[in-house]
Amino acid sequence: RSILHSELRGEDIIVVSNREPYIHQRIDGRIEVQRPASGLVTALEPIMRACSGTWIAHGSGTADREVVDRFDRVAVPPETPAYQIRRVWLSKEEEKGYYYGFSNEGLWPLCHIAHVRPTFRTSDWTQYVAVNRKFAKAVVSESRTKNPIVLVQDYHFALLPKMIREVLPDATIITFWHIPWPNPESFAICPWRDEVLEGMLGSSILGFHTQFHCNNFVDTVDRFIEARVDRESFTVSYGGKLTAVRRYPISIEWPPAPEMVQKPVPDCRSNIRQLHKLPAEHKLGVGVDRLDYTKGITERFHAIERLLELNPEWVGRFTFVQIAAPTRSGIEEYQHHESQVRDMAMRINSRFDSNLPPPIVLKVEHHEPREVYEYFRAADLCFVSSLHDGMNLVAKEFVAARDDDRGVLILSQFTGAARELPEALIVNPYDADQCAAALHLALTMPADEQRDRMRLMRGLVAEFNVFRWAGRMLLDAAAMRRRSRLLDKNG
Ligand code: F6P
Repeated sequence: RSILHSELRGEDIIVVSNREPYIHQRIDGRIEVQRPASGLVTALEPIMRACSGTWIAHGSGTADREVVDRFDRVAVPPETPAYQIRRVWLSKEEEKGYYYGFSNEGLWPLCHIAHVRPTFRTSDWTQYVAVNRKFAKAVVSESRTKNPIVLVQDYHFALLPKMIREVLPDATIITFWHIPWPNPESFAICPWRDEVLEGMLGSSILGFHTQFHCNNFVDTVDRFIEARVDRESFTVSYGGKLTAVRRYPISIEWPPAPEMVQKPVPDCRSNIRQLHKLPAEHKLGVGVDRLDYTKGITERFHAIERLLELNPEWVGRFTFVQIAAPTRSGIEEYQHHESQVRDMAMRINSRFDSNLPPPIVLKVEHHEPREVYEYFRAADLCFVSSLHDGMNLVAKEFVAARDDDRGVLILSQFTGAARELPEALIVNPYDADQCAAALHLALTMPADEQRDRMRLMRGLVAEFNVFRWAGRMLLDAAAMRRRSRLLDKNG
């Protein structure tokens, strides 16, 4: 945190992301502020609190005139303002093409390779280009200098780095791709493959969570673009500009904010059990995800069903609470996924004795971070079964919540987090029997083994926290800026 302060003092910092860190919306006539379910927001918000600046994001309250007028620009967090949100408002048509269309029906399934076929429409692409241009204008109008540090977030803005560079050639543009990058063959099906790559190569630094995704990106560029790729320094030279491709595994705030872990673990345990009318000693599992088909929620339910088939002693003694935040519900695939998840939970619950506590409690609704932490602290295990995930911060949040050194993390091998947390029970979410065995192992794991595993994982998250993630990127950027100032001075 102190490196951030010292390196960034006086710098002109701009973050750009689609998702806004705070949502102002009218509920029952009053304007309320909500924190969205987003790994990106979880990670970046503490950074912005530490170093201030401006966060440009898509304003989600367009339908509400008062929200648009009053909250176009607002200082946040509401309790202790530390930085500015500058909202970019999009028309329904822009949102449909840029966000639902090209970003989430095109790039999202393309990069995750989770058996949902990407859809590419020319009309979506047109909006994607137009919205990227709109954000580029916002960046230019928000920058106080000719060489701001701009942090571009995610696949919604692949074209933004090049567009910013055209107007602000001396800007330091750090782009972070929060989702996986697939192999060149898979990426090549995108009809605007070259435009996407060229757009991203406007960045000074391009970050991914894992080395594997960096390799895939560099291989893709090497295969399809007339660029010079240097595999020693992991840089790409294109159009006279150099882009460094780097691995920066994202993380979370450490230590967690005091209000997250204020309530003692025993109180969380009993509160949550009481809330769900479960006996005091009842075993509890928890899953926390956006209701997204990449998160492997149906695979997780299948594993729970297998556990109960193979180990019937857990029927009525184990309940899994799945918190599923609604997301992208304007997309048909997501509507279909939601009904699949609901049907499956109902079917599994009806299979087992209805006089006993149910195997699955499905809560399809938004939960504030503090409520989520209460579930983490109350649970015996947390199950993350993503079919593909850039990092997955839920895994790290569960670990951060467990200052009692208890609880078992079951973690999909297809998450970036699995590379950093090998002490979790690592599973293939497609293998229901293996996952069921991991659930049984977690439910019977002795306390000292839980403690040993949890301590190692907590050590990792404490050391490689989100300040280090941002700090490493910003230190690399600062070194780059110093080098180029020196070159300018010496002609
Ligand atoms: O990191 C993946 C990501 O798409 C973020 O960009 C986003 O904030 C989060 O998941 C949630 O998705 P959405 O903003 O579409 O609700």
